[in-house]
Amino acid sequence: MIRLTVGLILNILCFSECYKILVIFPTPIISHYILGEALASGLAEAGHDVTIVSAFQTKNPPNNGSYREIVLTGSSKDNENHLTTNLFARGSMNKFSAMAKLNSLGHKTVREALKHPKFQELIHSGERFDVMVTEQFHNDGIKPLAVHFNAHLIILSTIIPNLWVNALVGNPSPASYIPDYTLNYPIQMSLLQRTWNLVIKTAAYVNQHLLFYPKQRKIAEELIPNGLDFDSALYNVSLVLCNSHESVNQPVPMVPNMIHIGGYHIKPPKKLSQEFQEFMDSAQEGVVYFSLGSTIKPSTMSEDKKRAILQALGKLKQKVLWKWDEDYISDKPTNIKLAKWIPQQDLLAHPNVKLFVTHGGLLSTLETIYHGVPVLALPIFADQKLNAARAQEAGYGRYILFSEVTETKMDDALRNLLNEPMYKENAKRRSAIFHDRPVKPMDLATYWIEYVIRHKGAEHLRVAGNKLPWYQYFSLDSVALIILLMLAPLIPLKILFLLLKRNFIKAKQE
Ligand SMILES: *[C@@H]1O[C@H](CO)[C@@H](O)[C@H](O)[C@H]1NC(C)=O
Ligand SMILES: *[C@@H]1O[C@H](CO)[C@@H](O)[C@H](O)[C@H]1NC(C)=O
Repeated sequence: MIRLTVGLILNILCFSECYKILVIFPTPIISHYILGEALASGLAEAGHDVTIVSAFQTKNPPNNGSYREIVLTGSSKDNENHLTTNLFARGSMNKFSAMAKLNSLGHKTVREALKHPKFQELIHSGERFDVMVTEQFHNDGIKPLAVHFNAHLIILSTIIPNLWVNALVGNPSPASYIPDYTLNYPIQMSLLQRTWNLVIKTAAYVNQHLLFYPKQRKIAEELIPNGLDFDSALYNVSLVLCNSHESVNQPVPMVPNMIHIGGYHIKPPKKLSQEFQEFMDSAQEGVVYFSLGSTIKPSTMSEDKKRAILQALGKLKQKVLWKWDEDYISDKPTNIKLAKWIPQQDLLAHPNVKLFVTHGGLLSTLETIYHGVPVLALPIFADQKLNAARAQEAGYGRYILFSEVTETKMDDALRNLLNEPMYKENAKRRSAIFHDRPVKPMDLATYWIEYVIRHKGAEHLRVAGNKLPWYQYFSLDSVALIILLMLAPLIPLKILFLLLKRNFIKAKQE
């Protein structure tokens, strides 16, 4: 109630810099919500009037500005359960089945979000916004809402700039040196790798245009009243905020309306609870922290992987803190402590953390670099393999594909990572790059969102490439024309040849 009153007063006092911002993160996956919540809270703290639509409820809403939540309750819960079952198997799914699965996940998420009574209420309220920020995750059907709300469209890419955003803003992403985000390829790819990368990127593009967009278009047309047409909404992007940064990701070209804000969700470390503080302080040999992230349920891993990991960790002289979703593991070595929830960011800040064993998710990777902690990545799916490959290339970590984990490989990697000072030094070096920015990433995001509003959609930043069909973008029509012109002089020659040949045959017959 008090918060509501403060919000109302601020609304009335709203200065010219206070804008109405709609943040839509419909994906029912915790790590996506974390990014949406961090952005919405950051904007509210900067004094804006923020409405966030997401699948989860915010535990500690910000005090400043105004922060209104529209929680997509109900259906998202079973979507979430459906999503989190069998994640370990996801890694071995072939790329084309994975694409199909993400398509159907996207259709389900968008349809359920747009149909949700609370969201429908907002859609039909007549309310207008200055900007609409939406995550980019198989939810393009949401974008025509920007037209409906009379708002400039801003996209937040939850991972590195990829196919899903590049085409919308005309950002170059050559298959020759930028691996698809699902591949664990090095930056300098072999011929075979480049070829497979081209195949995957082309298949993804074809899937996007021939399968995914038509269905999203239908959903949007059905559920958004004044959405104009889908395509003009889709390609009318004012700004792309990328949750990526050169300290962690491969450097790539970015058109002027793309900005790196990777790590903006990270808060300065808070004091640990007494339980964790004592555990960390008393670890004379240091601590190996182990977490497979917020979505994967570690207890669903196969018995042989579990044994291999327990055996390897049990041999360490370090203590191990393992995020585990059950109370108990049989035959647990004594140096391992289990916890269902761990304040990861605060824990990584503790000087006794020697190593982070991670699934290689982007949020965990950004957090470990923020604190300069080396990693052993055990990637499973999505962009985890790519992040893991980058960590190894940058020399602050090593990786073993989760599907290939054995006790021997774990022993070898752990021994190497814990004894070789190079990994820590490289993690510190990366951390220095992470922190060396003109302003904090959340302040940068706020600045650019306000900039878009001040300059009425900032159309002056957009490159023209996104308006061209693919054959024009790659100059294929020009190449065809050149070939045609080069062949043109040959045409009279060919006619002459045919005439001569005919006369010759005639002469022979006579
Ligand atoms: C709170 O919001 C106001 C604008 O309403 C802004 O001027 C002020 O700096 C904000 N305070 C903090 C702590 O961000
Ligand atoms: C495209 O975006 C600009 C700036 O946000 C806006 O002024 C314009 O109305 C939009 N056009 C369409 C067709 O949505």
